[in-house]
Amino acid sequence: MRSFMTFLLYFCFQILVYCMPFATVALALSSETDKLALLALKEKLINGAPDSLPSWNESQHFCEWQGVTCGRRHMRVVALHLENQILSGTLGPSVGNLTFLRILRLKNVNLYGEIPSQIGRLKRLQVLNLNDNNLHGEIPMELTNCTAIKVIFLHSNQLSGRIPTWFESMMQLTQLNLGANNLFGTIPSSLGNVSSLENLSLAQNHLKGSIPYSLDRLSNLKILNLDSNNLLGEIPNSLYNLSNIQVLDIGGNNLFGSLPSNMHLAFPNLNEFIIGANQISGTFPSSLSNLTELQMLDISYNTFVGSIPHTLGQLNKLEWFNIGGNNFGSGGAHDLDFLSSLTNSTQLSKIYIFDNGFGGVLPNIIGNFSTHLSLLHMEYNQIHGVIPERIGQLIGLTDLEIGNNFLEGTIPDSIRKLKDIGSLGFEDNKLSGYIPIVIGNLTMLSQLDLSGNKLEGSIPISLRNCTQMQELSFSSNKLSGHIPDQTFGYLDGLIYLGLSNNSFTGPIPSEFGNLKHISQLYLSLNKLSGEIPNDLASCIDLTQLVLGGNFFHGTIPLFLGSSLRSLEILDLSNNNFSSIIPFELENLTFLNKLDLSFNNLYGEVPIGGVFSNVTRISLTGNKNLCGGIPQLKLPKCFRAPSKKHKKSLKKKFILISVIAGILFSFIAFITVHFLTRKTKRLPSSPSLQNGNLRVTYGELHEATNGFSSSNLVGAGSFGSVYKGSLLHFERPIVVKVLNLQTRGAAKSFMAECKALANMKHRNLVKVLTCCSSVDYNGEDFKAIVFEFMPNGSLEKLLYDSEESGNHYLSVKQRVDIALDVAHALDYLHNDTEQAVVHCDIKPSNVLLDDDFIAHLGDFGLARLIHGGIGHSTNDQISSSTIIKGTIGYVPPEYGAGGQV
Ligand SMILES: *[C@@H]1O[C@H](CO)[C@@H](O)[C@H](O)[C@H]1NC(C)=O
Ligand SMILES: *[C@@H]1O[C@H](CO)[C@@H](O)[C@H](O)[C@H]1NC(C)=O
Ligand SMILES: *[C@@H]1O[C@H](CO)[C@@H](O)[C@H](O)[C@H]1NC(C)=O
Ligand SMILES: *[C@@H]1O[C@H](CO)[C@@H](O)[C@H](O)[C@H]1NC(C)=O
Ligand SMILES: *[C@@H]1O[C@H](CO)[C@@H](O)[C@H](O)[C@H]1NC(C)=O
Ligand SMILES: *[C@@H]1O[C@H](CO)[C@@H](O)[C@H](O)[C@H]1NC(C)=O
Ligand SMILES: *[C@@H]1O[C@H](CO)[C@@H](O)[C@H](O)[C@H]1NC(C)=O
Ligand SMILES: *[C@@H]1O[C@H](CO)[C@@H](O)[C@H](O)[C@H]1NC(C)=O
Repeated sequence: MRSFMTFLLYFCFQILVYCMPFATVALALSSETDKLALLALKEKLINGAPDSLPSWNESQHFCEWQGVTCGRRHMRVVALHLENQILSGTLGPSVGNLTFLRILRLKNVNLYGEIPSQIGRLKRLQVLNLNDNNLHGEIPMELTNCTAIKVIFLHSNQLSGRIPTWFESMMQLTQLNLGANNLFGTIPSSLGNVSSLENLSLAQNHLKGSIPYSLDRLSNLKILNLDSNNLLGEIPNSLYNLSNIQVLDIGGNNLFGSLPSNMHLAFPNLNEFIIGANQISGTFPSSLSNLTELQMLDISYNTFVGSIPHTLGQLNKLEWFNIGGNNFGSGGAHDLDFLSSLTNSTQLSKIYIFDNGFGGVLPNIIGNFSTHLSLLHMEYNQIHGVIPERIGQLIGLTDLEIGNNFLEGTIPDSIRKLKDIGSLGFEDNKLSGYIPIVIGNLTMLSQLDLSGNKLEGSIPISLRNCTQMQELSFSSNKLSGHIPDQTFGYLDGLIYLGLSNNSFTGPIPSEFGNLKHISQLYLSLNKLSGEIPNDLASCIDLTQLVLGGNFFHGTIPLFLGSSLRSLEILDLSNNNFSSIIPFELENLTFLNKLDLSFNNLYGEVPIGGVFSNVTRISLTGNKNLCGGIPQLKLPKCFRAPSKKHKKSLKKKFILISVIAGILFSFIAFITVHFLTRKTKRLPSSPSLQNGNLRVTYGELHEATNGFSSSNLVGAGSFGSVYKGSLLHFERPIVVKVLNLQTRGAAKSFMAECKALANMKHRNLVKVLTCCSSVDYNGEDFKAIVFEFMPNGSLEKLLYDSEESGNHYLSVKQRVDIALDVAHALDYLHNDTEQAVVHCDIKPSNVLLDDDFIAHLGDFGLARLIHGGIGHSTNDQISSSTIIKGTIGYVPPEYGAGGQV
């Protein structure tokens, strides 16, 4: 007994002396553990960012730190709650040392990495909410040990792997949300054992297989969300045992079968019924009308058929009604009668009945819908008749879409009352009349689609009040008039503008330059004219510029290539653009469709960028293009000799040409009666900008009727001379085609062309261009194109009495002609960069134009002399060249000495 008392005393002593302090020490120690754990946690959580979690420092007790809650008695961390801030770190393993933790909420704090296995040490954990982070890896198996857990929210992460089977051991689990991850495999039927579950969400994963029958055991289940997976099979009948269910969302799977006729018995409390985007068939279950708690009904995008019952009026809590994308309706007159029962649903805010077979007219009663109604989508049906005036009573509408029906009549003015409307779609109906001026009252409008109707008149200026506009289409109507000024410039938020396929006239207003955000501009198939305004250079976000099929003219502006760097589609086809193709277009890295066909473009086609792929460009119907990639089969471009070449030319006298003079003398045969063909006269000659006409072999071929003999006006060993007319050049031309078999002809061609091209004088026959190309047989082709002289040669006038008789020329005319020739010689000898000696002056080489002004022609024997005639002696080439000229006209001293 005594020893027992001693023991007791000793024991008490022990308790008093040691145990109490020991308990305190233990408490302090575990407290210290939490602090260390939190500090270690912080380090991982903020990942070195100095400004995050500033309150987590030594200066205050950790129980005071942001998001930390401690138990009052033991000062241990019981809850950690941080959300909606950027921590950008990981959840460190030290979280497992916070052994008193009951609530861990780290929601939307940018966590990445894996969920640490140490989480399994949190035996007291009840709530785990890591929603909206970037967590990877699998759901850690160690979580099984958190047997007290009630809530697991891991929604919206990157978790992968299968859904664990071990949830069944968590007998307190009420909420499990693993949605929006990368989970795969099937739904384990063991989930049916977690009878405490009230909310099960596995939506937006990659789950397949069928919905397990065992789920019927979840008698407490209120929310079942399996939306957007790959689930297959029928909706298991057992599901209809879930009589407490409020939200049933199994949309976006591959489920089939039909709905039972007694749904109201199965789901008396159903609020949300979402089975959209499956392959469920059958008719609209009329028992749905008895689900009086229903707020959201979405059976869209299935294969339902038949009519909609008229008994929906009992669904007076209904807010969302979506039956779009089915085969409801028969095209009959009464298809839309059910709408009247829906007018009883005063909470209704969204109605989708689009893409069905509903016929009939749009009933007036739609004006009776609740003013809460914000969205009405009825597009892609067979609704006809007019748009009822009473549509204006739906003043809550923000989104009205009735496109792709058979509606006719005018757009009612009552739409002016839809002051909140943001999106209005009437496209592809048969609406007529004008675009209502009251459109300007709809100042919230950001999308307006009236395309594909029969609207006429012009665009109302009031449109400028719709300053929120982003997407606007009036395409494919019968609209006309100018695109109004002082209108689109106000719509500076426009991203899409479609005005194609109307009859608009006039220019593109320069205020289009205000459309800084425009991405797609469609103006094709109108009667627009003028040039592309330079202001468009500020529309730097343009990806699609489609101007084809108008009367635009002028040049293709360089800024298309240098400023509009986002262009993907550029269509300038079927206009009157006449310019070269700017090489800047090569630089558009995103351009994948370029249509320049049927314009008057000339010059060299680039080969880089989009031009490197023949399937991405269309250039047909342009006459004067050359170069480009070989697949285009365009003629080679004629290029002026390089500077280097020019220098070598300067070193010595150059024999310009050995082309026979006789050849060109055949031009003398050109007379008015050769002009049997009418030439097409254009108001101007756009192809001759800067004096540089560019012609291709094909064009010369066409101009001369395929070098036909009827166009032949002269021929000789050095080639042939044809008359002809170019499509886009107002005056007739003469084409001197060189016979390249003749020695030296090809070589001298370049030099002659250059010399001739550089000479400009009113008394010289004008060389329009030279053409160096390949003919249809692949042979080299070289020709010089001259202006045609309608009054033929002086020789003809002087000696051919049959034509005109020499009496035809008055003395004054003869003096004038002599002066003209003298002026030409003066110019050649003294005013050109390199003096030119013609070497073959005679009446047959003096050609007369309409006004009998003389033009010196045929430079086939001419010689270039560097530095002018006076300084030429040292540089003279030897006279070994055979002297050419015309007997009777060659100066005797030239004939004797051979020096020019
Ligand atoms: C967590 O606890 C373990 C053992 O209880 C200890 O070794 C470790 O240092 C602790 N870590 C932190 C960060 O407190
Ligand atoms: C769960 O806890 C027990 C005992 O505490 C331990 O033996 C087991 O390894 C733990 N399981 C997991 C998966 O962490
Ligand atoms: C709606 O419920 C009532 C009462 O239970 C029942 O008589 C009626 O047939 C049901 N209607 C439908 C369409 O199922
Ligand atoms: C409209 O709703 C009321 C209750 O809000 C209900 O009594 C009435 O029967 C409904 N009308 C129709 C046509 O269903
Ligand atoms: C457009 O707005 C201006 C200024 O707010 C207003 O004066 C004008 O009446 C409006 N036009 C239309 C058609 O609403
Ligand atoms: C529409 O705009 C006009 C002109 O601004 C204005 O007079 C009229 O009151 C507006 N109508 C409505 C319904 O807002
Ligand atoms: C194409 O871009 C390069 C680099 O930006 C630039 O040097 C070049 O001048 C551009 N070419 C044209 C034709 O704009
Ligand atoms: C050319 O363009 C077409 C159409 O965009 C594309 O399919 C094809 O791959 C391109 N070819 C080359 C060689 O880039």
